[in-house]
Amino acid sequence: MEKTGRDYIVFPLDVAEMDEAQFLVRKLEAHVAMFKVGLELFIGQGPDILKMIRDLSDAGIFLDLKLHDISETVFRAMARVADLGVDLATVHGCSSKKMLEMAVQGARGRVGILGVTLLTDNDGDTLAGGGFAERFSADPMELVMLRAKLACDAGCQGVVCSGREAAGIKARFGRDFLAVTPGIRPAWSLMPGDDQKRVTTPAQAIDQGSDLLVIGRPIRDADDPAVAARKVIAEIETALENLRHA
Ligand code: C5P
Repeated sequence: MEKTGRDYIVFPLDVAEMDEAQFLVRKLEAHVAMFKVGLELFIGQGPDILKMIRDLSDAGIFLDLKLHDISETVFRAMARVADLGVDLATVHGCSSKKMLEMAVQGARGRVGILGVTLLTDNDGDTLAGGGFAERFSADPMELVMLRAKLACDAGCQGVVCSGREAAGIKARFGRDFLAVTPGIRPAWSLMPGDDQKRVTTPAQAIDQGSDLLVIGRPIRDADDPAVAARKVIAEIETALENLRHA
């Protein structure tokens, strides 16, 4: 069955309290494919938050803890994540292939593991400041591709990357290797001083072949989050239609 606009949207529940998260799940469950639970909410509420999402919606759950530690610790932590019954979970791709492999082993095929390539609030200047070689700071895509290769070789289901990098990743690692893209900013939501740097619109991300679009503040901070989600869905569906006729 062909994917609809809704099937592409991952909404991050970037709030601290259970009742705020509950409000957003109720408001958006008809409009999104997955809810993403990150550090703020999981540290504050623990696994109860996952039960709440399951009780109120049929959407998938993406547990975005971005694990990064020695490989053995990542293995043991991912084994606990696998017991939580979530669909996707993240591990940083900036360490070793071994760490990524151990995350995949810990998951035991029960949760899809995504490697985070380069955070979307990082750019060439961030890399230069972090001591990376000029070939990476001049072209962050080089680093994204190197980390995507590690993730692919380690058996990850895909990567988190910016929409700008999705086409290159899909071309190199295949259609089934997921490109999950945060840093999504519809033209109507561009805000001065945004912390996200390597941004794309929903339509650009679809054109580039992104499989899932993580879109938070443009929806969360809208006057009516459901209306904003519907606008994003319409933009995605127009982009899909254009691709079909291209
Ligand atoms: O759309 P918005 O900028 O609000 O989305 C922020 C969300 O995307 C946060 O939950 C953040 O953890 C997540 N994220 C990101 N960059 C990545 C990976 C995840 O911004 N590379």
